[in-house]
Amino acid sequence: MEGGLVAWAGADADYVLANGEAPRADDVVLDGRGKTALPGFVDPHTHLPWAGYRENEFNERLKGKTYAEIAAAGGGIVSTVAATRHASVEELTLVTRQRLDRMLLHGTTYCEAKTGYGLDLATERKQLAALLAAAAGHPVGVAPTALPGHEVPLERRGSAALKARYVDECCGEILPALAADGARFVDVFCEHGVFDLHESRRILEAGKAHGLLPRLHADELTPLGGARLAAEVGALSADHLLFTQPDGIHAMAKAGVVATLLPGTSVFLRMNRYAPAREMIAAGVAVALGTDCNPGSSYTESLPAVAFFATIGMGLTVEETLTAMTLNAAASVGEAARRGSLEPGKAADVVLVDGPSLEHLVYHYGVNPVTDVVASGRLVVRDARRVAD
Ligand code: NIG
Ligand code: FE
Repeated sequence: MEGGLVAWAGADADYVLANGEAPRADDVVLDGRGKTALPGFVDPHTHLPWAGYRENEFNERLKGKTYAEIAAAGGGIVSTVAATRHASVEELTLVTRQRLDRMLLHGTTYCEAKTGYGLDLATERKQLAALLAAAAGHPVGVAPTALPGHEVPLERRGSAALKARYVDECCGEILPALAADGARFVDVFCEHGVFDLHESRRILEAGKAHGLLPRLHADELTPLGGARLAAEVGALSADHLLFTQPDGIHAMAKAGVVATLLPGTSVFLRMNRYAPAREMIAAGVAVALGTDCNPGSSYTESLPAVAFFATIGMGLTVEETLTAMTLNAAASVGEAARRGSLEPGKAADVVLVDGPSLEHLVYHYGVNPVTDVVASGRLVVRDARRVAD
């Protein structure tokens, strides 16, 4: 690695042949014997700047309530919105940095992260400011997403006119402001009872008009047709997709939309259902994996944990799982030319997994398999300990 990029990749013996010299005296050599080197993991779907926990909802689901019932009773996203509106930008920055720190220890070197717990101009901007402050100088690179279309805020409920006013605010005020503040993507929760296909399309098109690249929460709880919408608006990625039908899969394949699957939510919400990953792969769709780290439907920073659910729950092979959390995840966030594989010229983001073969990434489950992390050519985690900022 040189200058934060991969300079050469291969076996020791070939290094001398290819470069005409043994490693130089001033080279830093990381001994990975007994371990397996993989590209740094890319987490293409997270929600990081939020306050408050919803552990009570976790227990309510165990007693038989569903995610939708809990939300209808005043829990769900709007309860996190209340806590996040009350939090200061400093508090949000601190928790976001702690989440990035945990992601790094579990091998993530690049991620996407969303607003979406503000649902008003001031709080959405506060969330983005906290995210950018937490990411500044952090080894984990962050691509910020504007998600004012995560829910309808309580003060805009009760009539179609009020809801329409919120969609207008998203399109006319909040998205332009977040784009100016540095967001790269626009996202929307396209779901029955949240934003329908028409409203979702308006929000995504408004984001596009301000230079944001569209992606969306699609077909998570009901088969609304979000996958087809993703194809129609030219989204980089459609996410969740538990209820996506064959026509949606084919539309995604044709348009080159990445399927970002989040099987942690299937388990966490006790859905007894996963996205049809095998059908997607068979249709030629690139499948990526994300944590969906958030307080309501999947509270984890660990991509290896999600990898376990991807193999056991969705039947991905270990090789498909690795591709989904590296190169395809990079494609989901428009970074495939720069990251996601160990090739000369790409970011020098490398993870060592404790074990002599790739399978150890998921086979040794329930523990953190990552021991060492190099981010942009710098050794930042050594023997499971953070050694540099
Ligand atoms: O990706 N689907 C909407 N958003 C999140 C859940 C957010 C929450 O429950 O706080 C998701 O599952
Ligand atoms: Fe999400």
